[in-house]
Amino acid sequence: MKYLQITGEQELKGSVKISGAKNATLPILAACLLIKGKVTLTNIPLVSDIYTMIELLSNLGAKCLIDEHSVCIDSSNITSTKALYEIVSKMRASILVLGPLLSRFNECEVSLPGGCAIGQRPIDLHLKALAKLGAKIELKEGYVKASGKLKAANITFDKITVGGTENAILAAVYAEGVTIINNAAMEPEIINLCEFLELAGVKIEGIGSKCLKIHGVKELKSDFTCKIIPDRIEAGTYLCAGAITNSEITITNVNPNHLLAVIDKLNELGVMLDVQEDKISTKKYKKLNSCNIQTSEYPGFPTDMQAQFMALCLCASSDCIIDERLFENRFMHVAELQRMGANISLNNHLAIVKPSKLSAAQVMATDLRASSALVLAALAAKGTSKISRIYHLQRGYEDLCLKLQSLGAKISLKDENDDK
Ligand code: EPZ
Repeated sequence: MKYLQITGEQELKGSVKISGAKNATLPILAACLLIKGKVTLTNIPLVSDIYTMIELLSNLGAKCLIDEHSVCIDSSNITSTKALYEIVSKMRASILVLGPLLSRFNECEVSLPGGCAIGQRPIDLHLKALAKLGAKIELKEGYVKASGKLKAANITFDKITVGGTENAILAAVYAEGVTIINNAAMEPEIINLCEFLELAGVKIEGIGSKCLKIHGVKELKSDFTCKIIPDRIEAGTYLCAGAITNSEITITNVNPNHLLAVIDKLNELGVMLDVQEDKISTKKYKKLNSCNIQTSEYPGFPTDMQAQFMALCLCASSDCIIDERLFENRFMHVAELQRMGANISLNNHLAIVKPSKLSAAQVMATDLRASSALVLAALAAKGTSKISRIYHLQRGYEDLCLKLQSLGAKISLKDENDDK
């Protein structure tokens, strides 16, 4: 088993290039299933979740060719419309193939994703939206079986859902008429998906707003290239790395407009930033203030940055309160941070984070963002920490170890077998 060894209290320096957004690439890869031809995606991140989605598409019959940070997908000859449990259970975002498969083939079977470390994460809202479009839906033997020729409808989400909005958009593509999606999620990743569909010839009104209008089509264009947006969560994580080590680092290939809530909270903590068109630098500070955070849907503070900010708040000069509003179990990192000396108390969805002297420990990653919080804490802690189960990190952070090494961090990727 691989693990990360990190010796903390090292000042960082230099610049790091941010990869393409995992959470934009995943729905766009699913969208490729709609197209009877080839499309190319550039700036894709080379992380394991992307390989899982490519494995799923290949299993359905798509031809997928990765060349460095580009992938060419040809979905001309789809041979199956069944997304198998063996693949879907590796990654919940596999559920995003439901909308495009149903829209193009009028039937599909997608395994239910099963348990998740950060909360229940039901897919009821996805299914309700598809039913509104006329799908007949059955849950049988652990699979969602959906069928029917879809027709445009007026969908209003009871609750804002990123994946639900993406599935509804994808399903609406071949539905006859204009589908209206109200209370849609407004994340930049959804905008990237809409831009991809526009390149394929779909007319979409209201891109980036809470109300989307998707004009159904009979055919889509192929042979175009779509660029994936920079990963705002990876960017935010490196800004936290600069902040927690009180260092001057620069992140490049970013879109600061996608990071406004994160930038605001860093400023509130006293971390000043030099923000330019596509790069951001952290500056040194005298002391970290405190701040309170409530996670919410975009453009609010992202739940995917909550764990990293918790690590940073441990270094603040007074108490910080973190209110997790999106997922009910997204405090798995707390017990591990406590092993590093963190003084955090939990009360339902609230975490009270007190100033703490962090010290190195052996800790275990529990989910993707929780793992990055442990890395950040280890960068600030006195001594050498060991973080195991790092496959969670590899799901969403490309070359994390190399990128941090290039900033001067004392971090190395080790194998337990070599220690014996
Ligand atoms: C996306 O998950 C992201 N994943 C998550 O990132 C992110 O944390 C989340 O959005 C919120 O920003 C991808 O984009 C692949 P939701 P998603 O549907 O779409 C409830 C990461 O670390 N809900 O917006 O699954 C749900 O339980 C990952 O990269 C229902 O009740 O999130 C949650 O409380 C983790 N019924 C809330 O809505 C449904 O049918 C928001 O979830 C769907 C969702």
